[in-house]
Amino acid sequence: MRGRDGGFMNNIDDKIQIMIGQKELEKRIAEMGEEISRDYAGKELHLICILKGGVMFMTELSKHITCHVSMDFMSVSSYGNERKSSGRIRILKDLDEPIEGRDVLIVEDIIDSGKTLAHLIEVLGVRKPNSIKLCTMLDKPDRREVDVKVDYVGFQIPDKFVLGYGLDYDQFYRNIPYIAVVE
Ligand code: IMP
Ligand code: MG
Repeated sequence: MRGRDGGFMNNIDDKIQIMIGQKELEKRIAEMGEEISRDYAGKELHLICILKGGVMFMTELSKHITCHVSMDFMSVSSYGNERKSSGRIRILKDLDEPIEGRDVLIVEDIIDSGKTLAHLIEVLGVRKPNSIKLCTMLDKPDRREVDVKVDYVGFQIPDKFVLGYGLDYDQFYRNIPYIAVVE
């Protein structure tokens, strides 16, 4: 396969193993959607997808939410390299709309150290939403460095590098419809 640099990537296709299959994953995402629907019944819910990893999860999740939903997208990067979060975030793409007075649910692919989300909550909290909650498809609790309260968790997973369902390996593999681990 060709990598971003135009050269051939190390072929990791044969090192990929399914960790959470598509059926199991989407069954759990449906349950999360039902729980969120109950919690926000009669309210308008503003979903904020953290790009790019959260995109497949948020679209699937939103199909199972029965209250009125609006969506916005934000892209952040942490200073430092990809594998180690520094805790300071840089906003690459900000929200299109203000969140003042709204009930906001941040939708993330995975929580690792927790630094990105902790900082993001600070940044968004200043904008005076009515409420702000966190929802993540995956959680690596063993890696947590900053205490962040996560309201909805799909699966807790061990400290292994995973890809698929939005999560990338050097920008590829986001389109895989299940969660895989590289052995
Ligand atoms: P943290 O919680 O601030 O350490 O950063 C979480 C971010 O790191 C996620 O949003 C992902 O973009 C990335 N990340 C962490 N673990 C993985 C992984 O196993 N696969 C792919 N990306 C990961
Ligand atoms: Mg991410």
